[in-house]
Amino acid sequence: MSKQTRKQDSEELIDPISEMPGFDQTESRIAIHGHPIHAMSVAFPVALTFCVLGADVAYWWTGDIFWARAALWAAGTGFLFGMLAGVSGTAELLLVPGIRARAPAWTHFIIAVTLLALLGANWGYRLFGYEAAVLPYGILLSTLCVLVVSFTGWHGGKLVFDYQLGTSKGN
Ligand code: HEM
Repeated sequence: MSKQTRKQDSEELIDPISEMPGFDQTESRIAIHGHPIHAMSVAFPVALTFCVLGADVAYWWTGDIFWARAALWAAGTGFLFGMLAGVSGTAELLLVPGIRARAPAWTHFIIAVTLLALLGANWGYRLFGYEAAVLPYGILLSTLCVLVVSFTGWHGGKLVFDYQLGTSKGN
């Protein structure tokens, strides 16, 4: 293959998305002294989502109403902290050109919004009788939430570790 042909081939393979203005601007803007708020806030909904399932299993095992009430509170706070994390994530997505330009960031948004809908449903369902709600549908919803939050967190990690989104370029 001649040098000229190789040059033409590599020119044809340029990804048009990478030519977009601001493609390389991926540093977090929603941050405190360079520490991204989204990364700091996601720990709460992730942990609380697991707590709901844990409390549901404890209620199923013991029959103690305390666990049904604990599950209600974990579901509510998990949903509200999830919404807060969603606000910081969405602001990051819309305001940072290099994040906005990348398809995986939008994939994460779709998975996360699905999660927020499930967390809201799991809380709302329990508000109309938190003890009766646990078995069977509450615990099934909690299991689904744990699966989806695991996928959301894993995918968010990919954005940071594989695509270096929301990270600092360092000095
Ligand atoms: C609903 C809208 C959301 C959007 C648009 C969004 C967007 C993003 C973006 C752009 C990043 C890259 C890092 C950064 O820029 O801060 C990220 C990371 C991440 N996201 Fe989200 N996110 C959303 C919701 C959520 C929710 C609800 C969770 C979990 C409960 C979550 C879990 C994560 C995790 C674990 C990371 C990796 C953080 C790290 O390792 O530093 N995200 N997200």
